[in-house]
Amino acid sequence: MTEEAYSPGLAGVIAGETAIACVDQGKLLYRGYPIADLAENATFEESAYLLLHGELPNQLQLKGFKDTLDRYRPLRGELIDALRKIPAPVPMMDVLRSMVSYAGHFDPTNGTDSDDLRERATWLTAQIAGIIAARFRLLNGKEPLDAKPGLSHAGQILYQAHGTAPDDLSAKLVDLTLILYAEHDFNASTFAARVICSTMSDLTSAIVGGIGALKGPLHGGANEAAMEMLQQFKSADEARLWIREALAGKGKIMGFGHRVYKNGDHRATILERELRKLAAQKGQGEWMDIYDAIKDPMVNEKKIYPNVDYPCGLTYYLLDLPLDLYTPLFVASRVTGWSAHFIEQAANNRIYRPLSIYTGPAERAVPPIGSR
Ligand code: SDX
Repeated sequence: MTEEAYSPGLAGVIAGETAIACVDQGKLLYRGYPIADLAENATFEESAYLLLHGELPNQLQLKGFKDTLDRYRPLRGELIDALRKIPAPVPMMDVLRSMVSYAGHFDPTNGTDSDDLRERATWLTAQIAGIIAARFRLLNGKEPLDAKPGLSHAGQILYQAHGTAPDDLSAKLVDLTLILYAEHDFNASTFAARVICSTMSDLTSAIVGGIGALKGPLHGGANEAAMEMLQQFKSADEARLWIREALAGKGKIMGFGHRVYKNGDHRATILERELRKLAAQKGQGEWMDIYDAIKDPMVNEKKIYPNVDYPCGLTYYLLDLPLDLYTPLFVASRVTGWSAHFIEQAANNRIYRPLSIYTGPAERAVPPIGSR
């Protein structure tokens, strides 16, 4: 095998075909629809249905999808009991990894054809939202709440976490983040899910694998890491000083850069516009000064642009969501993209098995243990 076939991190390597999202041709499309158009004119539920079925739902189909989500929202007692036993300091992403795997033992859906997988994906989408909210309640010394009929998926998460119906702005902004987070072609966690699918393993295993991959701060964990970075500053001046030193070093600034986007992430632009309105409405302009104090030198000097995680961290923070929920909310959305890719991979599968360049010791004989 020749060296030139090797690309670290598979950068620039085409690892498959997909009809689900188009990421790197100057725009982001979900099944042909521009993300800006979906963000403006659709909800997360419509986008999730689009990813799973390939077409936007009509009124009847959307009602059916939402009814199925609602039907699958209740968490079994066994899951609530397990949630009570997980120690409080365990990060929510680790809780999700365990609980999705555990929930799989009580999976009420059957079969493995595409329709069965869409049903299981809908069940997982409902369960993940419920697990996040239930864990949040238990950590705050409160009992998990049943779903409240008539709320959106985003609204349901906020209601079941906080115990009060969310204000329209919070529900709309969280819904927007769920649309933006839902799908992004062969990113690390989706590729992990496709690799698991390619061995003919099951959807729940692929979702658990996706959660494990997304947790990392180089991937979905960046929304929490970016807010942790911003939280250390009391003023824009402090942030300006910090970024100077940081850029002198080789450290990565969380929420910036992207393997595919080299001139900016469409999703970051869309979300940042809404974030600026949110900050203005909440009289939190000084947070945007800090945000810009980090962003401006990254863009103007390093030409490294914010990715979706940079505005998302501060958006969730200004919506009073705890940091530990940020990447789990990414999971609550991306489970739909991971599932769409699992269905696509299963329909036209070849097991993933790349090569490697051996750099270990040359062949050698095994010496008797007495002479080692
Ligand atoms: C997501 O793939 C997807 O689609 C992912 C995602 C999705 O929707 O699924 O979009 C979600 O994961 C967004 C990314 C979130 N991660 C972060 O914000 C973490 C910080 N970002 C970096 O770690 C980095 O930009 C990556 C991981 C996102 C991309 O890594 P690459 O493509 O391997 O880029 P690289 O590390 O090779 O960087 C190229 C150059 C380097 O400089 P040199 O060493 O060549 O001089 O750019 C520099 C890097 O040092 N660079 C950064 C930087 N990102 C790249 N320098 C400082 N801060 C950064 N954030």
